[in-house]
Amino acid sequence: METTGKRKFNLREIREDFPALRQTVYGKNLIYFDNGATSQKPQYVIDAINKYYSKDNANIHRGVHHLSQKATNEYEASRKTIATYLNAKHTHEIIFTKGTTEGINLVAFSFGQLLQKGDEIIISAMEHHSNIVPWQMLCERVGCVLKVIPINKKGEIIYDEYLQLLNDKTKLVAVSHISNSLGTINPIKKMIDEAHKVGAKVLIDGAQSIQHTKIDVQALDCDFYVFSGHKVFGPTGIGVLYGKEAILNKMPPYQGGGDMILKVTFEKTTYNELPFKFEAGTPHIAGAICLGKAIEYLNQFNIEDLEKHELELADYATDLLLTFEGLHIIGESKKKTSVVSFIVDGAHPFDIGTLLDKQGVAVRTGHHCTQPVMDFYKIPGTVRASFAFYNTKEEIDYFIAALDKAITMLR
Ligand code: ALA
Repeated sequence: METTGKRKFNLREIREDFPALRQTVYGKNLIYFDNGATSQKPQYVIDAINKYYSKDNANIHRGVHHLSQKATNEYEASRKTIATYLNAKHTHEIIFTKGTTEGINLVAFSFGQLLQKGDEIIISAMEHHSNIVPWQMLCERVGCVLKVIPINKKGEIIYDEYLQLLNDKTKLVAVSHISNSLGTINPIKKMIDEAHKVGAKVLIDGAQSIQHTKIDVQALDCDFYVFSGHKVFGPTGIGVLYGKEAILNKMPPYQGGGDMILKVTFEKTTYNELPFKFEAGTPHIAGAICLGKAIEYLNQFNIEDLEKHELELADYATDLLLTFEGLHIIGESKKKTSVVSFIVDGAHPFDIGTLLDKQGVAVRTGHHCTQPVMDFYKIPGTVRASFAFYNTKEEIDYFIAALDKAITMLR
């Protein structure tokens, strides 16, 4: 796909790219506002999946035959596409994983082996469970101490408290770039720079950011950046761990098996170089190739155009939501992405979500895998509308009317 001259932002044409948007549920046009959970896929990616399994399917790094070499070349070309998109210094700093969760677990397991009892790891109070539990498991294994940066009522990190937590025992700071349940955009550049001053490494959970904003890992100077393919218009079951070469080289393998070795004897095994050291077994070849296609699709556009449209949608929805009596927005940071979480007095989020669904509107309800956030607000969960660049203001108008009906029925 040609990406030198950027494609103009034309919403009608963009929507044509996404076949899933052209369907009805319960006889109503589908309105898909659950992009925080997963995104829809453009035809360009769907065609690539079809082509791979129709014509190119073979195992990689293993065969002298034509198909194996073709699959290997495409797999490695995708790694290059992703490295270029993230502005990684080296292509081998891109490790394919199952997704954000596996990326974090890989770092917790492998980087965790370099840590010692008493070392400190900092996370924030707004993290997804996948950026909490692997660190708790590491702490149990090694005796590290987990510290949590508190948040304020607006759903923002209390920055001074973060600075207080940093000290020479801090070995890792693991924070989300953007909160999946609150929409908050964290000041990660400042946080990374501060962590580096005490010698700590920083992992950025990019599950909710790469689809919305430009990521330049060298400019950020993060040590790790993880994301999932399916949230950035690619397939499920594939994701990326970016890590700085020097750190990845120090880290032991995460899993043992084929492809991650140079030589195996019963006495001793030597490991392969990056990135293969961290990719044991036959990977999700189609997923990796098609994640590259999803990044190519995204890279046709100026991401700033997409971001601008998404923020307009979020502002538009927020203003309309605030006209409902007894509706409270959860997550009111000054810096937010296109995620709007809310609760309504006298109506359970699950019931609102169910009644919206019956009207064709897909939102997510519940704790969004951030139970500590819900505990902080003392709520059981929220209704979350999360927008992608293919959503429209007309869809929001319909959603608001559907919500009005739902609330009227529930009160
Ligand atoms: N982490 C995903 C979400 O926020 C599944 O919905």
